[in-house]
Amino acid sequence: MTALDDDKPTPRGELVIQVIPLPSDTNPNGDVFAGWLVKQMDIAAATMAGRISQGRNATVAMDRMEFLSPLRVGSQVGCYGELVEVGRSSMKINIEVWTLDRTAKAPRKVTEGLFVYVAIDEHGRIREVPAQNG
Ligand SMILES: CC(C)(COP(=O)(O)OP(=O)(O)OC[C@H]1O[C@@H](n2cnc3c(N)ncnc32)[C@H](O)[C@@H]1OP(=O)(O)O)[C@@H](O)C(=O)NCCC(=O)NCCS
Repeated sequence: MTALDDDKPTPRGELVIQVIPLPSDTNPNGDVFAGWLVKQMDIAAATMAGRISQGRNATVAMDRMEFLSPLRVGSQVGCYGELVEVGRSSMKINIEVWTLDRTAKAPRKVTEGLFVYVAIDEHGRIREVPAQNG
């Protein structure tokens, strides 16, 4: 059993961004680059981190990722975020990626990854994450 095994058929977390890969996002074989997907995940996690910390952040770590199934050009790609932990200045955010192919009836999971952000000020120094309600 790996960290990517998931018996839940639906995404975990809130939908943060939804994008559609274009032909320019593929390698010469027509497959979507993993790096393109990691970029979308980083954007989604950074969007959440900005909301949570109410300001600027830096990505300090990304956990290991495995890719379960390929991404097709023209499919819908959703990045779902879940706040896992808040430290003094850090935030751990899990991002799940699910895709819906143009002809498919149900979405399928592509990958997930844990992203760690640190709240920083305008000088790049760490700052405290404001207390979270609830
Ligand atoms: C983000 C940065 C300012 C943090 O500085 P730092 O000296 O590592 O700060 P600290 O050691 O005080 O750690 C700050 C927090 O990050 C956490 N942290 C640091 N490195 C971590 C890592 N590799 N994994 C998980 N958490 C980490 C610490 O546990 C601490 O959390 P807490 O405040 O909630 O307890 C600095 O590492 C940095 O500028 N890194 C480059 C970031 C960047 O450019 N990212 C984009 C790359 S393209």
